[in-house]
Amino acid sequence: MCGIVGFTGTERAAPVLLEGLKRLEYRGYDSAGLAVINDNGIETARASGRLENLCALTDNGEKISGVCGIGHTRWATHGAPTELNAHPHVSNDGRFAVVHNGIIENYAALREELTKKGYSFSSDTDTEVVAHLLEMYFNGDLKKTVMKTVARLEGSYALGIVCSEFPDTLVAVRCASPLIIGVGAGAEYFASDVTALICHTRSVIYLEDGEFALMKPDSLTVYDPAGREIQKKASHIDWSVEAAEKGGYEHFMLKEIMEQPNALRAAIEPRLKGDGVVFDGLDLSDEWLREMTGVVITACGSAYHAGCVGRDLIESLCRVPVRVEVASELRYRDPIIDAHTLVIIISQSGETADTIAALNECKRRGAKTVGIVNVVDSTIAKSADSVLYTWAGPEIAVATTKGYTTQVAVLTMLAVYMADKLGRIDENRCAELVRGIASLPERCQRAIDMNGRIERLARKYKDNASLFFIGRNLDYAVCLEASLKLKEISYIHSEAYAAGELKHGTIALIEEGRLVIALACRKELYEKTAGNIREVKARGARVLGVAVEGDRRMLTEADDVIFVPRADPLLMPIPETVPLQLFAYYVAKANGCDVDKPKNLAKSVTVE
Ligand code: AGP
Repeated sequence: MCGIVGFTGTERAAPVLLEGLKRLEYRGYDSAGLAVINDNGIETARASGRLENLCALTDNGEKISGVCGIGHTRWATHGAPTELNAHPHVSNDGRFAVVHNGIIENYAALREELTKKGYSFSSDTDTEVVAHLLEMYFNGDLKKTVMKTVARLEGSYALGIVCSEFPDTLVAVRCASPLIIGVGAGAEYFASDVTALICHTRSVIYLEDGEFALMKPDSLTVYDPAGREIQKKASHIDWSVEAAEKGGYEHFMLKEIMEQPNALRAAIEPRLKGDGVVFDGLDLSDEWLREMTGVVITACGSAYHAGCVGRDLIESLCRVPVRVEVASELRYRDPIIDAHTLVIIISQSGETADTIAALNECKRRGAKTVGIVNVVDSTIAKSADSVLYTWAGPEIAVATTKGYTTQVAVLTMLAVYMADKLGRIDENRCAELVRGIASLPERCQRAIDMNGRIERLARKYKDNASLFFIGRNLDYAVCLEASLKLKEISYIHSEAYAAGELKHGTIALIEEGRLVIALACRKELYEKTAGNIREVKARGARVLGVAVEGDRRMLTEADDVIFVPRADPLLMPIPETVPLQLFAYYVAKANGCDVDKPKNLAKSVTVE
């Protein structure tokens, strides 16, 4: 998704902006640009493709003088990823330059109005209307000009603006798209996420929807939507710079896979007390839980897959009906959700547009909402009635790994917690599960220790153009995530199928040599899955089995086997997922794919 940076200070702005944009590369983009105010007015440089193109164009920023500017990486929504559509966009009189993240929904009407008034457009973007509106409303007062402009905009946006009449001033505006101010010494910054700021400052201010700020090197004023000055408290970011960098690994994804034992510890340990689970700040009284009629889990992508695991766990332990819904669908249905529904919203970033919209819809219907979120103070974290943080630390790779497994861990603890509150689990079983949850980081580490063998298997199977993951119940939920992981980073077509469903049509695609990855970690369903393995083998498939350690029989059923550490049957999803993350990683790497920045994808999908 688009990335925004802004800087005003005393040093050359362009290199600082490029450095900030580099740190935002993980968000995904297809062009980049910057604008700096100097003796020539506003000087811009834009390039399609990778940031290196912009660095080359500007000699790493050295060609552009000036100490105040804005930069942008663009992930195309309106208009192709060309240089002309790259941000910043400049007003016809050259006075204003704008960078934007989000979508201006009424841009077509504004464009028509501005064209009639004689403004000419040089791009296909929705953003360019903002530059022309600023010019149209400019009366010498920057704050008023910005307010008049913003009042005309509908949709979601974070804006960074510079004006040549105010050569040391940055303007930052937030409406439903994240924008964070970094407070420095003799310098001010803004960015679409903290990753771009922490090498300069740890003191940040989160703008709320409708708020905007005027920033100079030695002063910062934040305004509410009505233009009244407001005092905002700066938060301290304690993520280390190293935590946001690769720490010696070839890719962020591998680093984040390896970090999972620690991430799980951070998510789990503070929440296990004696033989039970505690959640500080969870607003779910025993009385409310007893009157709860059902649970709806909503999320996108991998977070949705975590929700599929959560559904099976909550239904199994709490005996309440649970639905899992893709957020982009839920928001446009007429779902049965009311004041007795518990809605669990899952999001690593906390900024996914569809998930935010689904959360708002559920709130509108009166549901009790609990967010499971990684990024502290993100939109979902702040909007849900309660938030359970996953505490996974910064996740940079587009393909989520530790984000997903910590979501599963929190959902597992929530299932045990609710089952206990509802009196649906006996003390011994509760204690057994708590012990099992406590051991997950160690089991995850043992799964990681199979790294070498997984890499060899990945090299062996890397040339499959299309493959299937099959499994039953919780194994099937894991298949969904394993399949997405492989697809998104290796571009290999794969499908996750409930093992028993394959024969209802899709088995027609099984042919000589087709790879089927079969998950058979559920003891009670083992014979059934083994039967499905034989069905595909009979049709020529090669089978890579995923089975619990010690399962020697799988050696005879499958061509190769990945043995995963044994855990309580309800706790298997994490030990099963980790080797399949590694498998996806090594297949993608062996095929020369850009693992951390897969094509067409963005880390945080902040548009619909
Ligand atoms: C996973 O690897 C993805 N890239 C993607 O599916 C992601 O999980 C989804 O976009 C949801 O993101 P969120 O957790 O930040 O809301």
